[in-house]
Amino acid sequence: MRLALALCGAVVAASLVHASPLPDLGANLELGAADVSASLSIGRRNNDSPKQGGGVVAFYPNWAMYSRSNISGIDLTGIDTLVWAFWTVLKNGTIVSTDEFADFQAGGNGTIALLNAAKQKYGFKTMLSIGGWSASVNFSAVAVNPVARKTLAEQCVKACQDYGFDGVDLDWEYPGGGGKELNYFSLGDPKFYIELLKDLRAAFGSKYLISIDVSAANKRYDNKLWAYAEIVDWINIMAFDYVGSLQPISGHNSPLYEDKAGDPGNAGFVEQAVYGYLDSGVPAEKLTLLTPFYGKSWNVTSGDNNGLYQIVDVYDADQFYNNLRKNGWLNTSTTAGAGFKKTFWESTQVPTLLRQNSNSSYTFVTYDDPSTIKAKAQLAKSKGFGGVGMWEITQDYQGELLGAMVGGFKN
Ligand SMILES: *[C@@H]1O[C@H](CO)[C@@H](O)[C@H](O)[C@H]1NC(C)=O
Ligand SMILES: *[C@@H]1O[C@H](CO)[C@@H](O)[C@H](O)[C@H]1NC(C)=O
Ligand SMILES: *[C@@H]1O[C@H](CO)[C@@H](O)[C@H](O)[C@H]1NC(C)=O
Ligand SMILES: *[C@@H]1O[C@H](CO)[C@@H](O)[C@H](O)[C@H]1NC(C)=O
Ligand SMILES: *[C@@H]1O[C@H](CO)[C@@H](O)[C@H](O)[C@H]1NC(C)=O
Ligand SMILES: *[C@@H]1O[C@H](CO)[C@@H](O)[C@H](O)[C@H]1NC(C)=O
Ligand SMILES: *[C@@H]1O[C@H](CO)[C@@H](O)[C@H](O)[C@H]1NC(C)=O
Repeated sequence: MRLALALCGAVVAASLVHASPLPDLGANLELGAADVSASLSIGRRNNDSPKQGGGVVAFYPNWAMYSRSNISGIDLTGIDTLVWAFWTVLKNGTIVSTDEFADFQAGGNGTIALLNAAKQKYGFKTMLSIGGWSASVNFSAVAVNPVARKTLAEQCVKACQDYGFDGVDLDWEYPGGGGKELNYFSLGDPKFYIELLKDLRAAFGSKYLISIDVSAANKRYDNKLWAYAEIVDWINIMAFDYVGSLQPISGHNSPLYEDKAGDPGNAGFVEQAVYGYLDSGVPAEKLTLLTPFYGKSWNVTSGDNNGLYQIVDVYDADQFYNNLRKNGWLNTSTTAGAGFKKTFWESTQVPTLLRQNSNSSYTFVTYDDPSTIKAKAQLAKSKGFGGVGMWEITQDYQGELLGAMVGGFKN
């Protein structure tokens, strides 16, 4: 698993088809609709629950301290919620850090201590994120098991108490399947997720926050999103990875609007996810639109159409925005560096880069630039969203994307 995609909203159809190595527990334990609504009332929040979502939500992966920056080296001005990624959950509901050294030992006290120092300095809230692309294998087993759910809930309370988090973010990719190969799943997952969230809320009361991360494809959740929204404080929509690295033609990683010229891969677009979620019964103020601070590059065989929708020879690399800037593929936030041609696609509001390597090889890059990020933040704001955010903050370059996001959402 490439770490850049540890949290990803892949809507790649092929990934929906794979077998669960576990028997379908959910099928035997299905709750009737009546059971679900009865149990929901127990999980409701007090009236003092926050109504405004997460504001500007930044994910920080604990492993970024090795290759990019620890949390103390980043300007976090404008951020309202900092999400610490990731911890994982065992089958019995126990939660554990995915990197004990980074979290608890680096520099003597670990980088969660640096997070708490940053929290003091900037005044944002902090969330502990559990799961992600690489650590969602046990969620299904926990969700169907009342004892494991209770353990998870109790341990989340303890983690908040012990390490100073204001709440927990669950990044189950995905209830009902479609995540990493060999993840356990059952068709009952979307329903049992309600039980898991309810137990977490019962343990948290209104003292701690709950958020969840969801795929851009709202159809995954079997019409249960409204029920999640009743329990959680907010829902982060992972509106990226519309194209996967292994796909046969190049495309946009996170196009804002529909390509009016036509997308042969029919990959979808961010505005579609925005309306999909509003239509699914989630109040706008509980929605956060997540954007990518990374792009992707492929080597394609033709430079036609500026490399867009061309036949892929090979996936080249993940392209963090800060790498594009540091490598000189971009020499300002808006201009291509030597050897590259930039195209800004008005219809989808995203840029691409193209470099000719030989007569039959071109490098094509899809990414979000400050104007894309600003347009997405403005769309979220205009729809009354409670937040906008990114995966992930260390991929920014000198605050160029964060600045555009804060400007678009708050001004
Ligand atoms: C899933 O749970 C099993 C059993 O507790 C554990 O051995 C494994 O490490 C867990 N996987 C992850 C990704 O946490
Ligand atoms: C859960 O499993 C882990 C690893 O197998 C074990 O260390 C731990 O004691 C178990 N916790 C509970 C509450 O059963
Ligand atoms: C965090 O990064 C700063 C530089 O930005 C460095 O001085 C410090 O030692 C680092 N701390 C840890 C715990 O890695
Ligand atoms: C680690 O935390 C302890 C207790 O808060 C503190 O006394 C000590 O100075 C810290 N060490 C470092 C290297 O920050
Ligand atoms: C893509 O093409 C460039 C230029 O020829 C080359 O340097 C790079 O290694 C290629 N990428 C892959 C994954 O082969
Ligand atoms: C960026 O690169 C282009 C192409 O090489 C060049 O024309 C332009 O002057 C450069 N701009 C800056 C600000 O370096
Ligand atoms: C590229 O195409 C041009 C014009 O068709 C040709 O003259 C040249 O030899 C080709 N170069 C390579 C490396 O194939």
